[in-house]
Amino acid sequence: MSTQGITAWLDRATRNLALARARAAQWVAFYRHYTTNTAKLDALKQGCESRQPQPAPQPDLLARLVESYLVETSLQPRDAGDAYAICAELKEVIHRYWEPYLSAIERRDAQGLQQLFNSFFRNGGATYFGIGDFNSTHGRLGLQDGNRLLKMSYINRVLQHLEVWSSLTGERQYDRLGIPSIGNPFGYLHDGQVILSVAPRVHYYSVTTAQLLAHRQRRVVAEIGGGFGLYAYYLLRDEANTTYVGFDLPESLLMAKYFLLNSLPGKSCFFLEEGCLDALDYDALLHAYDVILLPHYLLPRWPEQSVDLCLNSASLGEMPSGSVNEYLRHIDRITRTYFLHENYRQRVKGYWTGDNGFVDNDYIHAVLTTHSAFELMTREQHWDETLEARLYRKPELSRVPAEVGG
Ligand SMILES: C[S@@+](CC[C@H](N)C(=O)[O-])C[C@H]1O[C@@H](n2cnc3c(N)ncnc32)[C@H](O)[C@@H]1O
Repeated sequence: MSTQGITAWLDRATRNLALARARAAQWVAFYRHYTTNTAKLDALKQGCESRQPQPAPQPDLLARLVESYLVETSLQPRDAGDAYAICAELKEVIHRYWEPYLSAIERRDAQGLQQLFNSFFRNGGATYFGIGDFNSTHGRLGLQDGNRLLKMSYINRVLQHLEVWSSLTGERQYDRLGIPSIGNPFGYLHDGQVILSVAPRVHYYSVTTAQLLAHRQRRVVAEIGGGFGLYAYYLLRDEANTTYVGFDLPESLLMAKYFLLNSLPGKSCFFLEEGCLDALDYDALLHAYDVILLPHYLLPRWPEQSVDLCLNSASLGEMPSGSVNEYLRHIDRITRTYFLHENYRQRVKGYWTGDNGFVDNDYIHAVLTTHSAFELMTREQHWDETLEARLYRKPELSRVPAEVGG
């Protein structure tokens, strides 16, 4: 090699070495920040402390929930086809986290079910609803024993969502995001308020709904895939003259019924019970109840043009395209004004099984953006301008999360 060649090689090597050093320093700084911020870690610890009240036994309510679940599952049409089938991830969740609930139902063990509900947020009852697995040491959150990096990533996600929530709603009153201590919820303690990880996002839907429907004296809002009922809770807590209709799988409805019946004791709630399907008058339900919770397979029976706004979040994006099309068809059929949706930009493979690396940043990015279902819809054959006019698309928030707070 010539002297010139050697000099060029040395230059390159020195540059690469400097670059590698800078990168290593960045990683060390990143890691140190994420693992030594004791104030934030303490706030998470406090937010995870048990606040379990001693709930009064509710044998009648629990017996009704058992019966209702059995009615819903027994009426589920076997030939509903792929459109109403559940995805592999959800089957895994049912098997991994909800099995104790379903066994208690099978045994008709109302007391056992009550005990499970007392710790609903911590024993896996709410895991699929964006809450995270409280006990997992190597799961996404690892809140109890998990490593600091995971905890800081959780904290930063909550803080980033709070920032977005604040900028979109103009709110700084963090108690707006609070929920009653039902099922021993946990989260990040911010300004004296325990913030459930999904609270800012879901509360934003409720605020947006109220804004969009402000001109209406009486509002009917439907949701498909509402999880444990957080959107319904915020909406009915804050907005008078509102009827909420939720369609979901019987397993998720079970959780929503428990949460909503306890958190909104003044509201009347309808769900399927023995014998009531035959004589069901859907229009009459709308006048008689504040909350109506129905199994997903009854969506095709819901009256046309009867709801003002329909919401779907973090749900259609997880379904096969056959289900998405079927749901969109019915959303279009039943909805008078707006379809508000927010879904994953892309499916994350192995999300629940954890066998593929799951990047938190992608999750935040995905949750805060509209997703490919929107594009999918525009490609649908039945797509027309009327449908497009009814579709409300929230402002795109596609920035990757910046680090928040000091
Ligand atoms: C990840 S959770 C999202 C909960 C809530 N919407 C949110 O934004 O946090 C997905 C919801 O979709 C529901 N879901 C999944 N597959 C469904 C299907 N085929 N039909 C109706 N709901 C379904 C689940 O039961 C659950 O309530």
